[in-house]
Amino acid sequence: MSQESILVVDDEALVTKAIVDTVQSLGHRCQTALDGSNALNLIRTNDFDIIISDIRMPGLDGFELMEKAREIEPGISFIITTGYINDYQYDRVIGQGADDFIKKPFSEKEIKNKVDRISRERRLTLENRHLLDEQLALNKKMSDILETSRSLIAELNFNTLFKTIITKTTKLMEAERTSLYIIDWERSEIWTKVAENVDEIRLPLGKGISGRVAETGETINVEEASKLPFFRPEFDIQHNFHTRSVLCMPVHNRKKERIGVLQVINKKNGPGFNQNDEMILKAITSHVGIAFENSFLLNELQLSFDSSIRTLSATVDARHPLTAGHSQRVTEYCLMIAREMDLDDAALKTIKYAALLHDIGKIGIPDSILLKEGPLTSAEQAKINTHPVRTRNILENFHFPKALVRVPVIASQHHEKVNGKGYPEGLTGDELSLSSKILAVADVFDALTSRRDYPKYCEDKMLGYSAMPLAKVIEILKEGVGTHFDPDVIEAFLRCLPQALVLYRGTHFPAEYVDETIQSVQLAVSD
Ligand SMILES: [Fe+2]
Ligand SMILES: [Fe+2]
Repeated sequence: MSQESILVVDDEALVTKAIVDTVQSLGHRCQTALDGSNALNLIRTNDFDIIISDIRMPGLDGFELMEKAREIEPGISFIITTGYINDYQYDRVIGQGADDFIKKPFSEKEIKNKVDRISRERRLTLENRHLLDEQLALNKKMSDILETSRSLIAELNFNTLFKTIITKTTKLMEAERTSLYIIDWERSEIWTKVAENVDEIRLPLGKGISGRVAETGETINVEEASKLPFFRPEFDIQHNFHTRSVLCMPVHNRKKERIGVLQVINKKNGPGFNQNDEMILKAITSHVGIAFENSFLLNELQLSFDSSIRTLSATVDARHPLTAGHSQRVTEYCLMIAREMDLDDAALKTIKYAALLHDIGKIGIPDSILLKEGPLTSAEQAKINTHPVRTRNILENFHFPKALVRVPVIASQHHEKVNGKGYPEGLTGDELSLSSKILAVADVFDALTSRRDYPKYCEDKMLGYSAMPLAKVIEILKEGVGTHFDPDVIEAFLRCLPQALVLYRGTHFPAEYVDETIQSVQLAVSD
């Protein structure tokens, strides 16, 4: 039986005493008031559960008191008492809103029974309200999970997805930390890319809580993880963290194969994770499984697309030993410049594929010209110069995804010049996209810094066949500003030149070529 706080309101001291004695004998707390306004003052400053009030009193009567008291505390229970039994019938009193009615004189037992009944009803009402609140909280949580699952399934980028899962799970589960592991069955390991501010971790399958869940597929829910024999304290020691409660579950794909483990650590505001938490985490893991599978599939498709393009690009370059690797290097230079110029991810992707494929049109140039050693005749040069148009024609037959639809145009403009004297269309700087201008700089830089078996020219002056000294290359690039090249692109390229040299030091660039000149390059850049 719960202890109630009861206010007895009656102008007859003997009646008040009788009621007080009875309710106090039942273990309830009790206060008294001699009239309605006194009672109201007490109600304003105390938390009463039940009021036992007479009807006829000086000032406010019992009904008026009930009305005003409920304006202050709507949930308050009322037992009305009266000696005027002919004037007040049970139905009328209850009809006015009272919870019960006691006629005077009353017995102790009658008071006891009625207070007991109301107390029980109040407890039930409170329990129901609590259950309802819990249900509403659960409903809210389920709708949050649904919302989260929508955002997870819409996210196809693996890295972003990983972070999103961790952040959302931590919040939904009211945990201090979340770890998400992918199972690598081939290496018998689990690995995590990000565990909120923590670097990549790899663990053997079967070791630690996550490793065990990955191996067995069981769910582990404990309030004191350190008591488990397979708990690994290394993480706590390394990161000055104290793992207490842990809820860890496997993640499955659509075929019910185990692909990962989701673990929440340290329930906030509680000793551990309860049954509801298990239900919520289970719902989350099922969405995580689907989201991962979608992301893996897309990743595979992207890898396959990427490797096809790279193979195609390398095949074209490999037709001549001196151009092997050309498109790959041009791509790297383009990406460096584009990042330096703060281009967004979509532009980076477009420029990457345009650079990889920019010379694919050379596929249509006969070996007799492409592989010729020595200077080309003007007819041969004209034939070579058709390759950007061929590039565009070939690429326009490709089915590029919507985001890459500009690749053929950009790729075909790599020999255009900002003064309109380039080819094939003689477009000017205003007509060329920034990506095309970046590609033009990267392409010339690689041609000048690579050996060719046709001579390099500057204006009409023949410069030779070998890779040019870097100082000369920079001079040519700078001289081309405003005629051949866009000034902003050249500036950006010169800023990332040391990075480009270091990337191919010891492979495409002999170490001494880089080391001897890098200092002068940096000096030249700062000119
Ligand atoms: Fe070209
Ligand atoms: Fe090229």
